[in-house]
Amino acid sequence: MKLAIIGTGYVGLVTGACFADVGHQVTCVDNDTQKVALLQAGGIPIYEPGLAELVRKNVAAGRLRFTTSIAEGVAASEIIFIAVPTPPQPDGSVDMSFIEKVAREIAGALTSYKIVVDKSTVPVKTGDKVAETIERYSRSRVDFDVVSNPEFLREGFAVEDLMHPDRIVVGVRSPRPVPAMKAVYAPFQAPIIVTDINSAELIKHASNSFLALKISYINAVSAICEATGANVQQVANGMGLDARIGRRFLNAGLGFGGSCFPKDLSAFIKISEQVGYDFRLLKEVQRINVEQMERFVKKITETLWVLKDKTIGVLGLAFKQNTDDVRSSPAIDLCQRLLGGGARLRVHDPKAMDKARALLPNVTYVDDMNEVAAGCDALVIATEWDEFKQLDLARARDQLSAPILFDGRNLFDPDEMAQLGWIYKSVGR
Ligand code: UDX
Repeated sequence: MKLAIIGTGYVGLVTGACFADVGHQVTCVDNDTQKVALLQAGGIPIYEPGLAELVRKNVAAGRLRFTTSIAEGVAASEIIFIAVPTPPQPDGSVDMSFIEKVAREIAGALTSYKIVVDKSTVPVKTGDKVAETIERYSRSRVDFDVVSNPEFLREGFAVEDLMHPDRIVVGVRSPRPVPAMKAVYAPFQAPIIVTDINSAELIKHASNSFLALKISYINAVSAICEATGANVQQVANGMGLDARIGRRFLNAGLGFGGSCFPKDLSAFIKISEQVGYDFRLLKEVQRINVEQMERFVKKITETLWVLKDKTIGVLGLAFKQNTDDVRSSPAIDLCQRLLGGGARLRVHDPKAMDKARALLPNVTYVDDMNEVAAGCDALVIATEWDEFKQLDLARARDQLSAPILFDGRNLFDPDEMAQLGWIYKSVGR
């Protein structure tokens, strides 16, 4: 099928590349001329495992191309996917200006029946607004359909999630666009659930808020584990074997971050407020997330006694593993808190150091994870990168003034670390 994707961020670019890879003809549109030039030249603006190869392969096969012109994308396609940012505003509500602008431009470019699909995470009832906007600004009375098709990919696993989705949600106002939407997703062999538009939009906010709730729940349990000598990983394993609960998203740590959970929680709380419901449960999820970080910082300050003028090595800056994304990263938050307490930092991340520089200008960036501990008083693990499990512990011990490791992601075994002579503090164990 002929598809256009408007917006080449994490969602748009990965979606475009995967659609092309299963055989669709894809035009990716972005108003950032530099980004489009980079993509046209074979470059990739973000780090995402498998993405560069996928883009290269499908550009070469002639199934994927990039342009700055929405009109060109609309003219070339049967279905137009909107995947532009919906950033948070200071009051927690969502900035819908990018969606509105794109809807207006699509309206201006419509000359025949098209399906306009929203992929961005948006407040419930956005579909109605998009339809209204297209009607208002189209030059002629052209027929179109608006569809909600939320994206559930995780950064760092985006290609895998898109190629093997748990489910595809298609929210529609009439049955007309359903066969075309099913044809787009037929190669992915996932269950397709067709709903009304409002429900589809709600599925996204309700799912992300539920996953954040799951993380805050286990983080709250981790506080009880610490107070009682229990082990949160054993508790999570025992809980997770109950098929009704499931083990995934039950890893205690420094709390959730990233460009989705914090924003989507705030948005869902705001949307609920606007329709007259005080979603206190979700406010508590937010509170636990802040407290989790505060408890970890307290653990560091109490152990080190004095933070001022200590040098601390921090492993991890990205908001989670497999990404270079530092937006709302708990690791960055932690670094800023340690700097605020007067510590000096030596930091390392396998992929996110470039993006972190703007947020953390006054720290020392170290290219080799095994050099971070040199001259430090303690080490901290802030992101769950797998490679940190391969850290040369013997060498780190020699480099540190005392063998102290604060593990915010529970990567090592507490008993083994104790046997090796480490003062080892993790989360909920
Ligand atoms: C999330 C949703 O998973 C995805 O479906 C949605 O489309 C976008 O938002 P993403 O933000 O990329 O994806 O990352 P995710 O893997 O969900 O992790 C979010 C945060 O939760 C990270 O900071 C991660 O470290 C944290 N997390 C996750 C935990 O602390 N514990 C866990 O068990 C799982």
